[in-house]
Order: sequence, then C-alpha cells, then structure tokens
Amino acid sequence: MHEDIRGLSQTAASAEAMQAFDATVEAYMAFERQTGDRLKETLALDPTMPMALCLKGCFLLLFCKRALVAPAAKALAAARDAARERGANERELRHLDALQLWLDGDLRKAAAAWEAILLDHPHDLVALRLAQYLHFYLGEAAAMRNGVARPLYAWNDDVPGYGYVLGIKAFALEECGDYSAAENTGRAAIDRNPADIWAAHAVAHVMEMQDRPREGIDWIGGLESHWAACHNFIYHVHWHRCLFRLELGDHDAVLNDYDKKVRADQSEEFLDVINAIALLWRLEQRGIAVGARWAELGEKCRAMSEDHCMVFGDPHYVMALAAARANGGGDKEDDAVATALSSLERFAEGKGTEAGVARNIALPLARAAAAHRQGRFAEAVDGLLPHRSALYQIGGSRAQRDLFELLLIDAALKAGRKGLARALLSERGLQRPGNPWNHCMTDAAQSLS
Ligand SMILES: [Fe+2]
Repeated sequence: MHEDIRGLSQTAASAEAMQAFDATVEAYMAFERQTGDRLKETLALDPTMPMALCLKGCFLLLFCKRALVAPAAKALAAARDAARERGANERELRHLDALQLWLDGDLRKAAAAWEAILLDHPHDLVALRLAQYLHFYLGEAAAMRNGVARPLYAWNDDVPGYGYVLGIKAFALEECGDYSAAENTGRAAIDRNPADIWAAHAVAHVMEMQDRPREGIDWIGGLESHWAACHNFIYHVHWHRCLFRLELGDHDAVLNDYDKKVRADQSEEFLDVINAIALLWRLEQRGIAVGARWAELGEKCRAMSEDHCMVFGDPHYVMALAAARANGGGDKEDDAVATALSSLERFAEGKGTEAGVARNIALPLARAAAAHRQGRFAEAVDGLLPHRSALYQIGGSRAQRDLFELLLIDAALKAGRKGLARALLSERGLQRPGNPWNHCMTDAAQSLS
C-alpha cells in the first residue's frame, strides 16, 4: 500500500508506479493531451494497479462513444481480477462499483457512488471530477454545486490540487447562475494555476451569460499561451471565443476561427462535432452563409447519430444532417435524418439514464430540429414547447442549451407566433438583459403582423 500525493492509501507495486498514477491524475485534471500516455506509463510500471485500470475504464467512457463501452468494461473486469488477486482497499473497490454503475448506464447512481466516496475521502480528486461530469451530463446544476461544496471543508492551499477544486466549484456556481461567486472562484483558481483551462472556461461561461463579449475575448486571449499541452477541449474554448465574436457581429473572424481553430482537425470527437454544429447553426440564424461546411459535419454525423452514448449529441446530429441536405447534400442526407430519428426512437424505448433523457427531451428536440430545417416551423414549435421544462435534462451547459432556446424562438418567429416569440424573448431577456441578439429578435417579433 502506498499513498498518493494527497495522502490517500492506494494499491501500487512501487513508489514509481504511485508517482506515475499521480502524474496521470494531474494530466487528467489539466485536460492534457498526454493524459493517455501518462496512464500507459503507470500501467507499464504496474500492469494490474486497480485504480489505474479503473481510470482507464473511466477515460474510455469519457469519449462518449458506444464502441469504447466494451473496452471500458474489459478494463473494469481487469481491475476486479487485480483487486481479487492482490487486494484493494475499500475506496478503490467503491471506485470500481461506481464505474460499474456508469457502465450499466445509471449515471445518477454512479455520481452518487463517487460522492459517497468523498464523504470518507474528501481529497479524492478523481471522484470529485467524475461526479461533477456526470451531474453535468444530467443537467443537474445544483447537484454539481452541492457535490463540490460537501468535501470543500477539507481543502485549502496546503492540499495539492486545491486550484482544480476551485475550478470545479467555479463551473458549478456558474451553472447555478451565481455568476459573481463563480467568477471570483475561477479567478482564484487561475491565480494559482493560469493553465487551469477548466477554471478559465468557467469564467468564460460567466462572461457569456453576462454578455461581456469583449472581456471574454480578452480573458481567453490572455490565457491561451498556457494551453499548449491541452487536448481537444481547447477547441471548445475557441468555440466560446467565437460566441463572443458572434455577439459583436464579427462574423468573418468567427468563420476564420471555425476553420482554423474550432474545426481545424475535423475530428469525430463528440464535443468537437457538437461545438461545430452549434456554431454553424447560430451563424446561419444570423443570416451568415456558412458555405459547404455542413457537408463535412453531415458526413461525420451519419455514423455518430446511431451511437446514442450521450444523447445530448443527437439533436445536434439531426441539425447537421438536415442542414447538409438543405445545402445540397441530396437524398442521402434526407434518408440520414429519417434514419437518425428512427434510431433515436428505438434507443428511447430502452433502459438506462440516457434512454430516459432521449424519451423526455432528446427525441422531441431532434424532431423539432429536423422540422425547423425543413421549414415546418409550426410543427417545430408545437413539438418542442410541451417538453421545454425538461430541456435541462439533456445536460450540457446553459450556454450549450441556449442553442435549443434559440431554435424554439426562431421557429416561433418564422411560424408567425408573435405572442409566443415575444414571451420567449422576454423570458430569455430576464436571464440575459444585455444580449444584443435578444434585442434583434425582439425587434423581429414586434414587426410580425
Ligand atoms: Fe463551455
């Protein structure tokens, strides 16, 4: 038995293997490209370390890809074998149980299992981060905030990784709408570690929700030199900068950033594709031609739309498939929209957290997205409106879900539903009184006969 950098007892073959695991956790917390390599180095030093195998399973699931569920289950089985053969402590065994719940598709119970570990081991940074992620996937902002608040009593600057805890706290506070506390906390994290991209991202979210685009651009620009080691999450931060530029009407810069940053490597990573779809849709809503960019996304989304590992993606995929067809993609994409919707309908009949989310909101949203693109605006409004109170359940951030609020408002405007459009804009305006686009859409609503 060894101790990790925060003093948690852990099964490890040697001090070197323990240090390698600490380096893996550090890389994970910092969103580093080398995180997988750090884990491989740990497993090279200790091929049956239970926590390293467990983390391997978690990392695989974090890709949100159906094809990686079986390898994740295999990693968990190897961790179980290792725990049986060489022993594992109760904290490690509880991590394995939490991963099992996640693999079973019960995200809520998995989050609860990681939070239960924190009651006894408040310095378990991996449990803290994973619990936040699962609550984030579930759209549970208060649970995110309370989940980080509970172990906070045990943290201060004497505990390694405290800055990351501040970053986790900052994002949770932002999603709860506590913007002032979120910004102060995020800035405190950045004071400790300017490379903490999750904390920087939390502050960018505050600036997005408070409509402070120039500050947001300066904030990201002032920190990005620290993010050279960051993995694809950096594309999401570039996406945030594009949202700021969009609010300033700097459309050429947005398109340039889309091509050179947000969509630079045209990857099939879940978050990268979502970012791109949401940005193109917002550009088009403002009347900006995005050229052939939908075709590339439509091509990627044909396969992704049958994955359903994280149904937050599904309405996005339908948006891209329908847009690709509308922009000259032909019958193939038309079939792809129908295929995607049928596949989601089948998935929604199943068990597990995500199937429930598909039933409650992802499916109505996906249908509304298709109807909107196909010019059936009243159908989009009527399909989405009854499910609107469940919108948060699709997960993601407030800024990401704003896409669907915009879709509904746009559909209401184009369907000529003046009263509804004005009411929805009034509601959005209460949250974002300084949002220029809200004022533009309000003017459009007023001009409806
Ligand atoms: Fe974000």
